[in-house]
Formats: sequence, C-alpha cells, structure tokens
Amino acid sequence: MALFSSSTQEIPADARKVPAHIAIIMDGNGRWAKKRLMPRVYGHKKGVETLREVIRTCDELGVRFVTVFAFSSENWRRPPDEVTFLMGLFLQALQHEVGKMQRNNIRLKIIGNRTHFAPELVRLIEEAEVSTAGNTGLTLTVAADYGGRWDVLNAMQQLLASGDFDAESITEQDLAPHLAMAYAPEPDLFIRTGGEQRISNFLIWQLAYTELYFTDLAWPDFDRSALLDALDWYQGRERRFGRISEQLPPGQERSAD
Ligand code: IPE
Ligand code: IPE
Ligand code: MG
Repeated sequence: MALFSSSTQEIPADARKVPAHIAIIMDGNGRWAKKRLMPRVYGHKKGVETLREVIRTCDELGVRFVTVFAFSSENWRRPPDEVTFLMGLFLQALQHEVGKMQRNNIRLKIIGNRTHFAPELVRLIEEAEVSTAGNTGLTLTVAADYGGRWDVLNAMQQLLASGDFDAESITEQDLAPHLAMAYAPEPDLFIRTGGEQRISNFLIWQLAYTELYFTDLAWPDFDRSALLDALDWYQGRERRFGRISEQLPPGQERSAD
C-alpha cells in the first residue's frame, strides 16, 4: 500500500499551510556566472551555497521534504568538461555535507539512474543514504541522472516484474509504490529559478496537482527572502483539485482580490 495518498484519488487536506513538500529546479547557474564574466561552473559552485541556505530555511519553517533537481537525464548532453565538473561537485558535496546533515537530523535520499555514475560516487551515495536513514527531520532528495519518464518507465518495469498482471486491472495505487519517491507525499509547491517556464522532465507524475512557481532570479541569487516570496505566493493559491471554489472547506477559499 502507498504511504501517502494520491491527489487524483483523494483530496489532500490543509492545502493552505506551509507546504509539506517543495520541489525545486535549481536553474540559471551558468547564465549567472557568465554575466559576471566567470566560467559557468562557478555558478554551480555558488549554487551549492544557495541550496544549503534554502534547506536551512525550509527546515526552520517546518517543510518536511525538499527535492532538488541537480542533474537531469538529458544533462549528459552538455560539454564533457561541465559534466565532469558537476560529477566532481556532487562527490565533494557528499563528502563535505553528510556530517552536517547528521548534526541537523536531515535524511538524504538520491533518486535517479545510478548506472552511469563512477563506482566511487555510487559508494558515497549509498553510504550517505544509509548513514542518514534514521534521521527524523527534513528529508532532502537530490535528483541526479533523473528523468520523469525514466521514473515512470522504471516503476512500470518493476511493477510488471513483481507479479502476474492483467493489464486492465493495473491501478495508480499499484504503480505508485514503485516510483522513485514513494516515500514522500506529492510536492505541494514547485519552484523553478532562472526564468524558464518548463518542467524539463522533472517529476512528471508527482507534479499532477502541484502549484507551479517560476522566478527570473538565477539560482545563486535565490536567497531566503526569495524563498519567503515563493511561500507567500503559495499560501495565496486556491487548491481546488478539480472542485469548484464553493465546495472548498471554510478557510481554504482564496480571499477576494
Ligand atoms: C542549472 O543551471 C544546473 C544544472 C543543470 C546542473 P544551468 O547550468 O542549467 O544554468 P543555465 O540555465 O545554463 O544558466
Ligand atoms: C533542468 O535544467 C535540470 C536541472 C536544473 C538539473 P536545464 O537547464 O537542464 O533545463 P533546460 O535544458 O533549459 O530545459
Ligand atoms: Mg539551465
């Protein structure tokens, strides 16, 4: 059985509170650096600092799950030097940050296809997940070599391998436990920095009813106050999940503007 309810099967409660789960596309690093006449990878380095600050603030506010897109299944198409740098940065972050996560009671999860990573990176990922598995605070999920289509296909393959299925009897609830983020509720709020308004193959299944927030700020400039702006915006949304305004429980309608 799935741990969390599905927004298409049941109406989630408390849509107006602090989001339980925020999913972020950390975009705009390269352009941010270029504007400062620096190499693109300088933007990626700065981006790690931004992430640290965002997680600290989310933790403080009571957000339970933060999921960030660090490397998409299509990012392998980038120049080899940049790919190598990003892999190195990921490795370094795992080496330096896991101890701090322990102290801050943060649980780390990595989702995506690990088969193209160097063995050393895979080992660090596994160790980091095991060592933080018992932490009860915020869950940080890093999506690396992740693609929404990969996730759905992978889940479908696992489901089909798990038993004898009559195609017509397959339900959402059969598939959901095989998705990479079965341990988390669906994101309430999606944030994309960097000015683009697209999903870029991020959590295509899980974003079905997520509120989508886009900002022109580049990820390295996405500071605490920018995050608070996004949360403010979120709290002004009316999440109807298919219903009409008049059907919402008192307090969940959007105030007349
Ligand atoms: C996002 O920033 C980080 C990764 C994709 C790894 P970009 O590197 O895409 O920065 P822009 O969009 O080119 O500015
Ligand atoms: C999405 O950003 C992936 C990550 C932030 C890791 P991209 O910069 O790769 O997305 P596109 O190519 O502009 O859609
Ligand atoms: Mg980009």
